[in-house]
Amino acid sequence: MNIRTARRYAFFAVLIMVLAGATGSFLRFALAYGMPPGWGQIRHVVHAHSHTMFGWTILALMALIWSEIPRLTGKPLPRGVTWQMGATFIFSLLQLPAFWPNGYGITQIGPARMPLGAMSAGFAGLTWFWFMGLYGRAVRGGRSSLPLRLWHGAVVLLFIASLGAMAEPVLMILKVENEFVKHLFLHLFLDLFTTGWLLLAIFGALWAYLQNQGITPQGWLPVASLALVALPTFLLGMPPSMLSPAMYWVAVIANLALAVLAAFHLRQFWINRRQLPLLVQFGLAGLVIQMGAAVLMLVPSVWQWGVGTLRIFYLHNMLLLWTSSALLGLLLARWGHAPSRWTRWVQGLWMVGVGWMWLALLLGGFTVWLPVSGRVFLEWAAWASVIIVLAAIMALRDLKQTT
Ligand code: HEM
Repeated sequence: MNIRTARRYAFFAVLIMVLAGATGSFLRFALAYGMPPGWGQIRHVVHAHSHTMFGWTILALMALIWSEIPRLTGKPLPRGVTWQMGATFIFSLLQLPAFWPNGYGITQIGPARMPLGAMSAGFAGLTWFWFMGLYGRAVRGGRSSLPLRLWHGAVVLLFIASLGAMAEPVLMILKVENEFVKHLFLHLFLDLFTTGWLLLAIFGALWAYLQNQGITPQGWLPVASLALVALPTFLLGMPPSMLSPAMYWVAVIANLALAVLAAFHLRQFWINRRQLPLLVQFGLAGLVIQMGAAVLMLVPSVWQWGVGTLRIFYLHNMLLLWTSSALLGLLLARWGHAPSRWTRWVQGLWMVGVGWMWLALLLGGFTVWLPVSGRVFLEWAAWASVIIVLAAIMALRDLKQTT
């Protein structure tokens, strides 16, 4: 993939983030001040937001991975990569209008009645399988290295998570109403995508970036064990009432092991932090918090309370503070124009907006102990989200083709 094509997809990925972020910001205002009549139901719009946001992370990672593969494997990219990227972009974006009116429910278009949201998610998921197939072809018989081994593990986890995503429309068609089964597949997708695929894939992208700066990894760094212990951690996202004590202990110990193993990588990222883009350094703070949370979850009552009260905070700590900051930092460092005052504004606004929203979501979980109404933190989060979207819009200018 040449630099123009890669930059184009980096631009498209950030464009998706702008649209999904604007939807999230709209939701934040709806939660603080009420949903304007005729704009749909909050839970449907949440689906539109979260599915499209996953499109941002996956397209950004695919652009980073494809751009490094020829150098790392010593082989050219397989045919079809550009088509796959185009399809992933289009179907990621389509989820926004498809989920908005009725979420996973049925939408009437003329005489036809269709589960538009589930269909769009299904098509987007198919393009992920296409990516996995092409990835397998691209790396087969080529050289190996740390970024590639991390991506191999990440792709296996993405495959398993995608099966969870694909199960949702299948369960609907089969009319399976069992709540445990539904939650199991939902969290297999949501949490394995987040703690599994995103973690390993971003680690791979960070190592590829550092290697390009002439830095080589020192000492032992876990890869297969990291992927293995990530597997059962999705159970921790399930409603506590559905999880037996044995399942909880397997998941919570695996989660702790994941944090310990991730710390080996983190230590080296810290040592080489001056070589990493500023937004990556900022995002790593979110990873440290996630690792701290893995220790706190060892207390069952803390986990039970957190799943109910801090779920949205925890998700955005992982997906916005850690994942999105790291990805935006990598995209701008790789394909942004030469660092300028504009770039510094993008970075500054992003960190202020994300930090402010992060704090508002965290404090919102403690309102019973604080002398302030929960509404105040909802309003904070809403205004902070405007700054995040503004930073993302400004980042688009940095990734625009100039010739
Ligand atoms: C501009 C930044 C963002 C804003 C303003 C935002 C806003 C929101 C809001 C308002 C909700 C619903 C909260 C609730 O139900 O109480 C939500 C849920 C969610 N968001 Fe975000 N978000 C942002 C970034 C992200 C990113 C970057 C991702 C993923 C990459 C993401 C993934 C999710 C997920 C998975 C949920 C939960 C969906 C569910 O409950 O089914 N968000 N977000």
